[in-house]
Amino acid sequence: MRFQGKRAIVTGGNRGLGRSFASRLAGEGGRVMIAGRDQADLAATAADIQAAGGECRYQPTDVTQPEQVAALVQATVEAWGGVDILINNAGGSMDVPKTAIEEITPDDWDKVVALNLRAVYLCCRAVAPLMKAQRSGKIVNLSSMAARLGGTITPLQYSSSKAAIITFTRHLAQELGPYGINVNAVAPSVILSGPRVRKMWDERLSEQEKDAFLKRSSLRRLGTVEEITGPVLFLCSQEAGFITGVTLDVNGGMFSV
Ligand SMILES: NC(=O)c1ccc[n+]([C@@H]2O[C@H](COP(=O)([O-])OP(=O)(O)OC[C@H]3O[C@@H](n4cnc5c(N)ncnc54)[C@H](O)[C@@H]3O)[C@@H](O)[C@H]2O)c1
Repeated sequence: MRFQGKRAIVTGGNRGLGRSFASRLAGEGGRVMIAGRDQADLAATAADIQAAGGECRYQPTDVTQPEQVAALVQATVEAWGGVDILINNAGGSMDVPKTAIEEITPDDWDKVVALNLRAVYLCCRAVAPLMKAQRSGKIVNLSSMAARLGGTITPLQYSSSKAAIITFTRHLAQELGPYGINVNAVAPSVILSGPRVRKMWDERLSEQEKDAFLKRSSLRRLGTVEEITGPVLFLCSQEAGFITGVTLDVNGGMFSV
């Protein structure tokens, strides 16, 4: 089992992509702490993972709040004595519409950037001392194809913060590499991970725009949750031991046409 005994935190692990990362980690022997804002959802996901034989706990957390992030890491240390893997998955455009720049309010700017950039900084900051002391660790951050191309269905503040994740990842990889810590990112294209993304895909693009989007991809299709989970778990594994500072584009070849 690839993750036997490994202690992992998955932010936003209650649903969507994060739920898949958490389930697969636990299914391969990992001990997984899922964090998110919705207690009932967290409890239900943790119960499902346990029912499948996996080790999973949960900690209600707003990842934009430093005290709550500290409590999340503390709860993981109390449960299992340390943190080996951090997947910074919580993110999204928080139902903020994609509008012209002059219509973006400073509040809408700040809240989306807080979730997609500040939270990643806060979580990395909280685990770094532990990982440095144990001289090992794997951090994977969720960027987005929007970072490379601009948002298709997401607003400017989302693509900007996901682009910042790419440089954040490279910088932190340089800083933490001497301690044996790998820091990487994955940049998925649109993945219909749940009702929230499906609604945005359906409501924000006409059929013609969807068709044009798919034609830009070499594989001519959207990816699946499983097709993002594999690359993310690879970067969490020892097989990726010599990879750091990289943002892996998982988008069906969106750049090659
Ligand atoms: N699905 C896609 O098309 C896609 C594409 C590129 C990147 N991504 C990125 O992948 C990640 C997961 O996306 P998803 O499709 O599963 O989205 P989702 O909306 O289904 O899940 C987002 C998760 O983040 C959690 N979350 C939101 N705000 C939070 C907060 N303040 N504190 C703690 N948790 C919070 C939610 O509870 C949820 O578990 C996000 O970072 C997203 O930006 C998704």
